[in-house]
Amino acid sequence: MGNATELKCRYHGWQYGSDGQTRRIPGAKNFPKFDRQRHRLDSFQVDTVGQLVFVRLSECEQTLSEWLGEFESLLELATELKDWKLNLFNRLTYDANWKIPVEGSLESYHLDEVHAKTFGSDPGEEATIHLFSEKGTSFQTESRGKSFVERTEEASIRWLTGSFDPRYRHIHLFPNLMASLTETITLVYQIEPLTAQQCQITVIGLGRSPSRHGLLKRMWAWGMRRMSARIAMKIFKEDAKIFPLVQSGKRGAVDHGVFGRCEERLAAFHKHWAAPSGH
Ligand SMILES: [Fe+2]
Repeated sequence: MGNATELKCRYHGWQYGSDGQTRRIPGAKNFPKFDRQRHRLDSFQVDTVGQLVFVRLSECEQTLSEWLGEFESLLELATELKDWKLNLFNRLTYDANWKIPVEGSLESYHLDEVHAKTFGSDPGEEATIHLFSEKGTSFQTESRGKSFVERTEEASIRWLTGSFDPRYRHIHLFPNLMASLTETITLVYQIEPLTAQQCQITVIGLGRSPSRHGLLKRMWAWGMRRMSARIAMKIFKEDAKIFPLVQSGKRGAVDHGVFGRCEERLAAFHKHWAAPSGH
């Protein structure tokens, strides 16, 4: 997302250096007793995986690597600097409890109804693999549609990189961090509650950026990054329309358990959340 050596408040114009201390204070003579040391900005530990920067907001004994567990290498590979470039950073508000978009990310059988034109079809249970751990769950399928867009995507990636991995992988790190990984775009997103019936999703997208190629390939990759970011946002907006309705339906719902394997990642999430250590 870039970097800066100074921060400036857009309200009163106070400026801070990267050490957290004030630099320029407009009207500083009005604050003769201001203690620069004492009123420095708070500092937080950060750690990185690939191009992702994680900020530690509270004390925690685990390192980032321990927290990410088996998902670390996957995230690192799908966001490393030499092959991936930021193509999306956005925030959306959903008028629904935060657990509804989390649930929506954990099953694919709403695809046919809500995302048929953008995401494609539900691959079906036989074509998917679910993995479960204490930290989260994951999904994987090699099933792909044969639409023009999907065939063009595969041909483009083969042309740009020399190979194509058909896998679609999705990971959920309890409670609210998710990532979907394909050869074209990596989406990392976090869903945070705002109120009981409203939440916010922050999405970071990294598109394919194969280095060491000529102008034509670089331009094609640029076009793919733009297109894939646009499709991704369309999918999140399709969800934004349906989630408030799901929210209103939930009020009358009873705990029905799991109807099929396609709901078992949801059950694992709720089990984690209901456990005393889950939150
Ligand atoms: Fe969805």
